[in-house]
Amino acid sequence: MSCSLRPVGRAQRARLEGLTAATGFFRREEVATALELLDDSLAGDPDYRFLGAYAGDELLGYACWGPTPGTEGTYDLYWIVVDPAWQGKGVGTLLLRAVEAKLVAEDCRLIVVETSSRAGYAPTRGFYERRGYAPAARVPGYYAPDDDLIVYLKDLTHGALARAAP
Ligand SMILES: CC(C)(COP(=O)(O)OP(=O)(O)OC[C@H]1O[C@@H](n2cnc3c(N)ncnc32)[C@H](O)[C@@H]1OP(=O)(O)O)[C@@H](O)C(=O)NCCC(=O)NCCS
Repeated sequence: MSCSLRPVGRAQRARLEGLTAATGFFRREEVATALELLDDSLAGDPDYRFLGAYAGDELLGYACWGPTPGTEGTYDLYWIVVDPAWQGKGVGTLLLRAVEAKLVAEDCRLIVVETSSRAGYAPTRGFYERRGYAPAARVPGYYAPDDDLIVYLKDLTHGALARAAP
């Protein structure tokens, strides 16, 4: 699979909306939120950064991340989404690794990812877990009855955080 990484521009807005909706993972309001974050990012808001994966000019997927407010060196990975037709081909891994490399270069300590406990998210949770993200907290009923929030962490300090724990 030949795929390149570069920023997401205004020209990809509709495609980003379409591929996010096509996953079937996100409610209409969530898709709208992804677009709002892209608009904020394109308007220069440094709190939201986007990276796209492309085959030629076609956007295949994207990641959105930013500094977690009120923290030092902690970043949230807000979105990582790959077009269903391109899932399972390494695009998500490429995006995740690229975001991690950017954050390491910026002295980020910790990446936080929030996801759902629903059965449909099992492949997503596996994707994170097999790439070094550890489940750190679970908030029962957070999204809906029987739909818990699971918070994953990736420690970019190679264990310094764990060693500092009491
Ligand atoms: C999760 C997601 C970003 C992974 O991207 P991807 O390009 O499909 O993943 P890759 O091809 O790089 O890696 C495949 C791995 O992801 C897992 N995976 C998760 N969801 C998958 C899916 N829908 N299709 C295929 N593989 C999937 C596979 O089990 C595989 O695991 P392994 O390599 O550890 O055995 C993508 O599948 C996706 O957009 N899913 C729907 C939206 C979502 O859950 N986003 C994250 C929450 S914001």
